[in-house]
Amino acid sequence: MTTPSSSNLVRAARRQPVDHTPVWFMRQAGRSLPEYRKVREGTAMLEACRTPDLVTEITLQPVRRHGVDAAIFFSDIVVPLAAVGVDLDIVPGTGPVVAQPVRSRADLDRLPPLTPDLVPDITESVRQIVGELGEIPLIGFAGAPFTLASYLVEGGPSRNHEHTKALMHGDPQLWSDLCERLAAISGAFLRVQVEAGASAVQLFDSWVGALPLADYERFVAPHSRATFAHLDGLDAPKIHFGVGTGELLPAMGAVGADVVGVDYRVSLTDALARLDGSYAVQGNLDPALLFAPWEALEAEVRRIVEEGRAAPGHIFNLGHGVLPTTDPEVLTRVVDLVHEISAR
Ligand code: CP3
Repeated sequence: MTTPSSSNLVRAARRQPVDHTPVWFMRQAGRSLPEYRKVREGTAMLEACRTPDLVTEITLQPVRRHGVDAAIFFSDIVVPLAAVGVDLDIVPGTGPVVAQPVRSRADLDRLPPLTPDLVPDITESVRQIVGELGEIPLIGFAGAPFTLASYLVEGGPSRNHEHTKALMHGDPQLWSDLCERLAAISGAFLRVQVEAGASAVQLFDSWVGALPLADYERFVAPHSRATFAHLDGLDAPKIHFGVGTGELLPAMGAVGADVVGVDYRVSLTDALARLDGSYAVQGNLDPALLFAPWEALEAEVRRIVEEGRAAPGHIFNLGHGVLPTTDPEVLTRVVDLVHEISAR
């Protein structure tokens, strides 16, 4: 009998043999689905993330529609920050916006630890989803300290991360203390999800590709490692992903990941050479190619599945999230194609 912990997704993450290449999509739940837009009508994003029946329905929608090999918990990287009391909002079309940026030592007082009693709804949502999913695994997630710090320090989305980099280099002790708090918050958020039944986790360090390797090693890696360490003793493989991280892939693996997410700027073949066979990989179809004619898209999917055969484990995904205007029927077709051509 298949269980979530013996599913193709978990097996690929553990570099064990699979029946077919497992596939899911970052942002598979969301605006590309008409059924998502319908149930979200009239409910703000952060409120939706804290409403178990809505979280359950939205998490399951892409599984029902596309037949993907995993669900990803419907939430947001800033949900645990809001849960500890940070005044922030998720603005449609923009992203997370923080009322008062975090830039001084006094601002750290606004980041107390995340205790499970602050997020009983998360436990309830995960339990309900896992009950509905049966043998399909649920992926829990959190934001990594650098990416969360970037939203907090900049006050919102940022192209250049100038305040973040200035703080990191200008006051390394404050930076380190900030990231220590964020690692505790994100680690606790991951732990709550796994203890409630998530079978794997993904730590998103979406914007860390903005850093050179030396800065990653010095200012980021210890805190991402500390985040993952909160899962010690639990049995859930760890996926670690960021955008534009071609130069950082081995360093991101080394913080405790089982699977390294690869964006579309680096081929899986090159990523595998950089990773030296030590990790499974996830990726890496360019989400923009979902808008190309089917023949062109099919050729890319085939190439990626083929390159993934050389990996010790491969989870098919996009190189970043599904774009909101993507035709969902194309996503279903990609799932079917990956399953068909990778069947062993
Ligand atoms: O399907 C899934 O992948 C699960 C849901 C998920 C969301 N956010 C839902 C969401 C996940 C995994 C995230 C993580 C997240 N949030 C990240 C890391 C992933 C990545 O894309 O690199 C980041 C950087 C954020 C911050 C954030 N939240 C952004 C940039 C946005 C988009 C802003 C916009 O409107 O374009 C959000 C909001 C958000 N998170 C939406 C969804 C479905 C859109 C909200 C809506 O539907 O109105």
